[in-house]
Amino acid sequence: MTPRFPSPGSLVDRIKVNATSKVQVEGRTLWMKRRRASALPVLGCANLFFRAANSPLRTLLSKAAWQRWEVHSFSLLHGPEFRAFCWGNSAVAADEIPGINLTGPLDDGTLRPAMTAAAGRELRRSHACQCPIFGGLWSHGDPHLGNFLYEAAGDRARLIDFEVMHLPTISADARQADDVCAFLEDLAGRARADLWLPCARAFLEAYGAPDILQGLARRLVTGPTGKFARLWRGVRTGFLPAAELRARFELLQGACAPCALPGL
Ligand SMILES: Nc1ncnc2c1ncn2[C@@H]1O[C@H](COP(=O)(O)OP(=O)(O)OP(=O)(O)O)[C@@H](O)[C@H]1O
Ligand SMILES: [Mg+2]
Repeated sequence: MTPRFPSPGSLVDRIKVNATSKVQVEGRTLWMKRRRASALPVLGCANLFFRAANSPLRTLLSKAAWQRWEVHSFSLLHGPEFRAFCWGNSAVAADEIPGINLTGPLDDGTLRPAMTAAAGRELRRSHACQCPIFGGLWSHGDPHLGNFLYEAAGDRARLIDFEVMHLPTISADARQADDVCAFLEDLAGRARADLWLPCARAFLEAYGAPDILQGLARRLVTGPTGKFARLWRGVRTGFLPAAELRARFELLQGACAPCALPGL
């Protein structure tokens, strides 16, 4: 079945609180992201929504806190090869990372297991980084496919877009499990039916946590309870009908039974 809403899975991404552009500065190609003047009320409403949905995510209302989180996360994951810095008091800039964001192949049906495997490796590598802001292991908050840049030549994916943040009061295990869910929900909601299972398996095998899927099974298959939590899941899954979503996660769960998939 064709997903109904082929657009990025994140509420914040959809509402466009930032203007992103490519600029040349002294021979360097940079991507600059500037907070729009209208962002604050939108971000405030997003936080009320996250709270109502019992989501562990929050947007950073303070521009300085947002800049710090973007620059810190980018530098932690990609420095010193690629650099990021604050630009004035309402923007951040970062070196251009090679590749295409995975939303393109997801939406035009050219997504391949090699691409989601690269995303799984990148998420695993990122989850091993110690983060002083969390005082523990790092997590992204919104790793939908559009926030991975995939470089075919090196078969490498890299994470970008550090717009939202997990609540630091949540355990690293729970934050990182939420990241895995976010990726799988975006993929389940928008992948072509025949690509869902191979791409999801490739992602999980590359992510490589032996028991993570079984731990997440209820959350993925049954879905959340509560009006706002269901709405948030709808946003993350492109509002794919619940029965189809459930069938996809059951398929994955069956395929990833401990004896069926080496390493899981
Ligand atoms: N450092 C970078 N290197 C290469 N491309 C980038 C970089 N930063 C941003 N981009 C491009 O700009 C797009 C938007 O960037 P980002 O995801 O950080 O912002 P956003 O406000 O969340 O926008 P969107 O709603 O489009 O996701 C990315 O998907 C990517 O194509
Ligand atoms: Mg983005």
